[in-house]
Amino acid sequence: MDSLVRKIAPADIAGIARAARVLRQGGLVAFPTETVYGLGADATNGQAVAGIFAAKGRPRFNPLIVHVRDLAEAERHARFCDRARELAKRFWPGALTLVLPRATNSLSELVSAGLATVALRVPAHPVAQRLLQETGLPIAAPSANPSGRVSATTALHVAESLEENVDFILDGGPAMLGLESTVLGFEGDEPVLLRPGAITRAEIEAIIGPLQKAGAAIQSPGQLESHYAPSAALRLNALRPEQDESLLGFGPSADAALNLSPGADLKEAAANLFAMLRRLDKNARRIAVMPIPETGLGEAINDRLRRAAAGKRAQE
Ligand code: TXA
Ligand code: MG
Repeated sequence: MDSLVRKIAPADIAGIARAARVLRQGGLVAFPTETVYGLGADATNGQAVAGIFAAKGRPRFNPLIVHVRDLAEAERHARFCDRARELAKRFWPGALTLVLPRATNSLSELVSAGLATVALRVPAHPVAQRLLQETGLPIAAPSANPSGRVSATTALHVAESLEENVDFILDGGPAMLGLESTVLGFEGDEPVLLRPGAITRAEIEAIIGPLQKAGAAIQSPGQLESHYAPSAALRLNALRPEQDESLLGFGPSADAALNLSPGADLKEAAANLFAMLRRLDKNARRIAVMPIPETGLGEAINDRLRRAAAGKRAQE
């Protein structure tokens, strides 16, 4: 416990400077927001983002919320429809997360878990704001708790539950709201409540009118078909490619068209997964993927690959 406490520092000028340094170097920093504590990483650095999934022990890649300084920065990363912009103007900074089409490749594909959308939020907490200013980076941050456990609302909770899996914890006192942000997406032009949260349905409806009932189909993007699925057939645990296959490598391979990680590093593989699948999908009808160990991040990588392969089989 003592060593854990040493990872915590008050969110003063020195603490924020240290947190910014860790983030720029690709490390993980837990920080307070007005909703709950977030487990942050540089959203432009795929390996840093992969570190979040490893630290949380997430068996799957659920897409993450990317925290940005203001609406102007958000508009560089995503395409806003009129209603999204109205909501942002009304509720940002604050506890509303908007899921919108990605505008550029400025962010790691892993933050979107392969989806064509990205979840964005401008946090209101002064410490989160100062961290965004100081780094100048978009910061990907899910709630700072191990997968399947409740969200952390104090620095000590983060330290207790994430143990050695976080590089640094900024203590800004208890999170004010203690409840996660409301997540809102759009199905075509229709606003859809994806996760109820700190901003109520009524507050949102007062601005943009009635919300669609949370559609079961996209409520849990980690599980369902709104996830990116390659149109090429996928064969897993392949040692070498068959005639018309492109091989996605892991570890040393002379035959790989692309390699998730020639050095068999799971973080690197996670960071490359969605971008490489997408690239192969453009050119190949069949993709073979080399075996990936079921340890650490390998579990989430294999989960994603298995579901991509099964989805394809179901369509055929
Ligand atoms: O209050 C909060 O939102 C906190 C603080 C740290 O900002 N963050 C948080 O993140 O709760 P997380 O990762 O625990 O929850 C993110 C939610 C998940 O339900 C995820 O499925 C959804 O947002 N989400 C993220 N990206 C999405 C996307 N592209 N499409 C649909 N849902 C998405
Ligand atoms: Mg969470």
